[in-house]
This record gives sequence, structure tokens and C-alpha cells, in this order.
Amino acid sequence: MNLLSLGRGKTGSLVAQVARERGHDVTQLGSADNAGAASLTADRLASIDAVVDFTTPQAVLANIEACVTGGKNMVVGTTGWYEDLERVRQLVGKNQTGFLYGANFSIGINVLFEAAQTAAGILQHQYLGHIFERHHAQKKDAPSGTAATLQKIIRDTSGVEVEITSFREGDVVGMHEVVLDSPNDTIYLCHDSKSRRGFAEGAVRAVEWLAGKRGFFDFKDVWRQT
Ligand SMILES: NC(=O)c1ccc[n+]([C@@H]2O[C@H](COP(=O)([O-])OP(=O)(O)OC[C@H]3O[C@@H](n4cnc5c(N)ncnc54)[C@H](OP(=O)(O)O)[C@@H]3O)[C@@H](O)[C@H]2O)c1
Repeated sequence: MNLLSLGRGKTGSLVAQVARERGHDVTQLGSADNAGAASLTADRLASIDAVVDFTTPQAVLANIEACVTGGKNMVVGTTGWYEDLERVRQLVGKNQTGFLYGANFSIGINVLFEAAQTAAGILQHQYLGHIFERHHAQKKDAPSGTAATLQKIIRDTSGVEVEITSFREGDVVGMHEVVLDSPNDTIYLCHDSKSRRGFAEGAVRAVEWLAGKRGFFDFKDVWRQT
């Protein structure tokens, strides 16, 4: 495929590397080339099969609007924009493109999501829940999109809103922990990323899975098929 990778940062540059390893042609754009999505013209998009976005919460919505209205399939790893999810879902429906987003493209985290969903019922049985997340000091959003997704999964399953505590320190890739505590015992569900490679591989597999599809997809619902 001819892929356009938006964002040349820590994750976007790995996405480009993994995509090339898997045989795709990749064009990359960083912020200097694409302020306000200015580069995403019909001409630029004409030869592109799909776009991957690992940019910033400030940049991502303009990128989405340009690519979706330009008729391109898109995979979005950027977090911090989910209050606009419904608007984007409608835009994708109107333009009949394929769109896949995910708070976390690591397979391990998606198993944690399912473990948290299974465990959440225990909040009806004298347990109190808390989510802890730890990331590198440069991370721009807090809580992380992954922690917010864990909170939503637990709320949807148990009706209980558990609190999130965020830590920003050093170069931590990403640690998420759900703690369920009772007078008798404590359950810890913890995922600790060793590198960003798992995110990049998941995102590239998501692009490949999305080829030829239309619709609005969340990676946590489709990762087993990718
Ligand atoms: N879903 C997942 O699995 C997952 C995993 C990791 C990270 N993330 C999310 O992905 C996003 C990026 O994370 P990161 O750690 O890679 O951040 P990062 O290292 O800060 O990289 C962000 C990049 O976006 C670029 N950028 C900003 N505006 C742009 C624009 N208009 N067009 C093109 N590029 C633009 C920046 O370019 P300059 O450096 O030139 O300014 C920078 O290289 C964050 O929202 C993070 O939470 C998601």
C-alpha cells in the first residue's frame, strides 16, 4: 500500500519503520510540513491508499477532517480528542470511508481491557477500584487515552466510575494498573509496555485490516481479526 504517516515523533517514526518492513511505501509528514493540515490537499492524497495519524491532540482533528473528506481510509492512534468522537463518526458515515481508532494498539493492553471488563463486576461486591497510569514526562494529555478507556469499560460494565491517578516522570513508555481492593484481598491488573514497537505493529496491522472496508471501528473491538 501507499501509506501516508502523519507525525514523525516517537511512535509515528516507528510506524513508518514497521510499515516499510512489511512491504508498504511510506510518505511521512511532520508538523513543519503540515501545520493546520495544510499539506493534506486532494493532490497530495490522490496517490495515497490510507493515512496513519500519531500526532497531537491539537493537530489530529484537522488531519481527520482533511483525510476523511478527501475520501481516504484512516487509522488514528493519537489520543486526547475523544470528546469529538461522535462528530467524527458522522463525518466518516457521510463520506463513506473506513476509519479505525484506538487508545492503544498493543495487543497486551487489549487483553487488559478484556480482563478489566471481566473483573469490573466485583465492584458490586464490597470492592473499591482505582486506575493508576504512568507515562514519560513529555506526554501531552492526562489521563492517558488508555486509562480513560479502562475507566469507560469499567463504568459500562459495573455502573461505577473509578478514579484515575496519573504520573508523568522520566521516559516511562506506558504503565496502566487497575486495582480492586476489599477488606479481604486486593486484585492487581497491570500492563507495562517495554517499547513502542507493540503500538506501531498494531497500527500497521490495523491499516492492513481496514483496506477495502468502510465504517467506523475501535481497535479494541477488532484486534483479534487483525
Ligand atoms: N494508540 C496508541 O497505541 C498510542 C501509542 C503511543 C502514543 N499514542 C498517542 O499518539 C500521539 C503521538 O505520540 P508520540 O509519543 O509519538 O508523540 P510525539 O513523539 O510528541 O510525536 C508527535 C508528533 O506529531 C507531530 N505533529 C504535530 N502536528 C502535526 C501535524 N499537523 N502534522 C503532522 N505531524 C504533526 C510532531 O511533529 P514535530 O516534532 O515536528 O512538532 C511530533 O513529531 C499521542 O497522542 C499519544 O498519546 C497512542
